[in-house]
Amino acid sequence: MNVINIPEYLVDKYNVPVPRYTSYPPANFFGKEFTEKDFRESVIRSNKDDQQNISIYIHIPFCPQLCYYCGCNTHITRNETMKSKYLEALKQEIKMVRPLLDPTRKVSQVHWGGGTPNSLNIPQITGIMELLRENFTFIDSPEIAIECNPAHLDHAYVDSLIILGFNRISLGVQDFLEDVLNTVNREIPSIPIDDFVKQIQGSGKAKVNLDFIYGLPHQTVASFEKTIEKALAIGPDRMVTFSYAHVPNIKKSQAILEKAGLVGPSEKLRMFENTYEMMKRNGYTPIGLDHFARPDDELAISLNNKTLHRNFQGYCTRETTGQVYAFGTTGISQLESAYAQNAKTVNSYIQAISEGRFTTEKGYLLTSHQKLIRHVINEIMCNYFISWKDTATKFNLQDSEVFKLIRYDEEQLSIFHEDGLLTSSNEGVTVTELGRFFVRNIAASFDPALGQAGKTFSKAL
Ligand SMILES: C[S@@+](CC[C@H](N)C(=O)[O-])C[C@H]1O[C@@H](n2cnc3c(N)ncnc32)[C@H](O)[C@@H]1O
Ligand code: SF4
Repeated sequence: MNVINIPEYLVDKYNVPVPRYTSYPPANFFGKEFTEKDFRESVIRSNKDDQQNISIYIHIPFCPQLCYYCGCNTHITRNETMKSKYLEALKQEIKMVRPLLDPTRKVSQVHWGGGTPNSLNIPQITGIMELLRENFTFIDSPEIAIECNPAHLDHAYVDSLIILGFNRISLGVQDFLEDVLNTVNREIPSIPIDDFVKQIQGSGKAKVNLDFIYGLPHQTVASFEKTIEKALAIGPDRMVTFSYAHVPNIKKSQAILEKAGLVGPSEKLRMFENTYEMMKRNGYTPIGLDHFARPDDELAISLNNKTLHRNFQGYCTRETTGQVYAFGTTGISQLESAYAQNAKTVNSYIQAISEGRFTTEKGYLLTSHQKLIRHVINEIMCNYFISWKDTATKFNLQDSEVFKLIRYDEEQLSIFHEDGLLTSSNEGVTVTELGRFFVRNIAASFDPALGQAGKTFSKAL
């Protein structure tokens, strides 16, 4: 049934370690020399930079139970005292950032991620949302999104989220098969996903995303095809199908899954190809490698208009996404001229904030040249196209200066061209549909910092 057939020899050739380019420079370039003082100065400076809109990221690390595959920043606990203390610190952090921001700037997006934000009760979520509304002005139709584990949801909770203004609710399904969920130690939702999707879409006020992972133990090409068929019958507004990222040296619990038997790379590739084809055949537009959206969705429209954008929270549009100010453990603020990441552990976070200090653990200050490279890489990764003329105009340079800064390598581009991954002209570079599967490799060819000593990355596929 595959129409997209990715030749094995290209997989062998390009499955090498390259950055995911969720940021530029990648997060493993962030350094400890970036201090709390740098963070304060960067936030103040960000008031003069584009984008003027404010995006707020709220990180809730808590989960009641650990899913063995999990690669996220989590803190497994059901301890209510710890949660309350964390939320007090989070509120304090918001109050500390607020005076640094120009009050005329408006919030266009709030994203609650985790961990499991719905491990909080509704009064706790209300408390933070009220604080944000008291301290910031919002645009007319802001995006207010939350990631939820459906095993800890009920209909009353979902209704309350919608009343609070949440208009995008992501449900982490991962798989419908109980055998798969049991093996990865994930609770099985007692309410069918279909019921939540009907409730959310039926409200007319919110959209729904469903998350899946392929490559987990007990999944087969045929079983994952059935999972996607079921998801399509439910009809979410967006869907994300993550490739299972196995990094047991960093996430120790993942080693447990090796005993249950992991899915091999060629089976994973078939799962990916099938999903891609099924989603397309059913009218969804592929966004990047793992996101799918209906054609009337703002992400699909942005891709068509070549204005799609990306941050640590996923794909987004320039209309909704501004510079990102992150709150909570491991949150990464993504400003025009700097990145800053918060402390990892709940205790050190609570401690620092209670002493009136930001918990900036590491970060990065970008030069104007790096902003240009970031622009080129973002355009390739999101919109599969880069215009040399537009880039030169945006950065007030000649085309030749742009080429020099990105170390334009004609020979490398002609190899990609011969492999059918892109077309190139004086105007710019366009990634082909086959090339989308190797877009990280193409982006990496415009990255002069790649190959610096001591930096390791996951493989491209
Ligand atoms: C913070 S969780 C979503 C909210 C909630 N904690 C849940 O699990 O439903 C974000 C998503 O990351 C994905 N994810 C987590 N660990 C992963 C891994 N090792 N590889 C690929 N995707 C992963 C899952 O699909 C998950 O839904
Ligand atoms: S997948 Fe979600 S619920 Fe499971 S441990 Fe990770 S963050 Fe928590």
